[in-house]
Amino acid sequence: MEITNVTEYDAIAKQKLPKMVYDYYASGAEDQWTLQENRNAFARILFRPRILIDVNKIDMATTVLGFKISMPIMVAPTAMQKMAHPDGEYATARAASAAGTIMTLSSWATSSVEEVASTGPGIRFFQLYVYKNRKVVEQLVRRAEKAGFKAIALTVDTPRLGRRESDIKNRFTLPSNLTLKNFEGLDLGKMDEANDSGLASYVAGQIDRTLSWKDVQWLQTITKLPILVKGVLTGEDARIAIQAGAAGIIVSNHGARQLDYVPATISALEEVVKATQGRVPVFLDGGVRRGTDVFKALALGASGIFIGRPVVFALAAEGEAGVRKVLQMLRDEFELTMALSGCRSLSEITRNHIVTEWDTPRHLPRL
Ligand code: GLV
Repeated sequence: MEITNVTEYDAIAKQKLPKMVYDYYASGAEDQWTLQENRNAFARILFRPRILIDVNKIDMATTVLGFKISMPIMVAPTAMQKMAHPDGEYATARAASAAGTIMTLSSWATSSVEEVASTGPGIRFFQLYVYKNRKVVEQLVRRAEKAGFKAIALTVDTPRLGRRESDIKNRFTLPSNLTLKNFEGLDLGKMDEANDSGLASYVAGQIDRTLSWKDVQWLQTITKLPILVKGVLTGEDARIAIQAGAAGIIVSNHGARQLDYVPATISALEEVVKATQGRVPVFLDGGVRRGTDVFKALALGASGIFIGRPVVFALAAEGEAGVRKVLQMLRDEFELTMALSGCRSLSEITRNHIVTEWDTPRHLPRL
């Protein structure tokens, strides 16, 4: 049957993938309350569309950190994509380039920064986990720079891995035919089996739990690349991130895989946007599954959004073609949302085009 929205790839991926792999991609932390809330919170935001505006031409193009892209929909970092499909990150990189948008490569990719660069031109960001061994980090950042990556998305919400119970039950580990390619040769590319989640053990062994704001400054001493701080959920931290030199902020709860019972990212977004006072761009990931979600995020002040699981599930179902289709479907839906809301360019999307539950009661329609 024809696929008509990105969510449909989830069930196909579930059918196709080994249980351990599907569960790893799909699950959130503990009760998975935030996992559901990332979706539910979008559903509680409604539109205030404007009518009788000539929407014959819609322009979705935008600029992120100075790089022109075709739409404000980008690819989030997701780890170990060759578990989903043999082409893994190669397929994702090609699909993102074809769509004229940015791909963020995970530190824990099963393809290296050089391999991804070899797929051809494209604007790419590199997601960074800071290892205890800072020499490893320095080397990796240098390689990413050399491979033409344009920014670092520094994950700041993972001093320890969140508790994902299916990974514990499944004794999740990276299949032995794959490696964390960026760390091959450093003796950090394999994941041992553990009595719980192999990834949680790997993180406990290698990732630096002492990471703090001073390390955001340290990172700027080893690279000129702009740093996006990924994992901000409060106005307080947004302000500190700017002081620490961040070029941008990604409002993220790590796909609800870290601390459970944090708010949906779409609920936290506006507080962060207000705190930044326009000094740096704010992006969002988490729960975006529709063009209407993209519009809602932009109306609340995001400069763009990133999608994670839809890419992985489409990759599992149809490889590169699936990822292309996901990006195309979201593009088409977003364009339609703009047209039906009376917005011809991203700058015409305003806070007044939506109404949230935290707005003044007079705006709230009775449900
Ligand atoms: C990796 O970043 C994960 O959340 O599993």
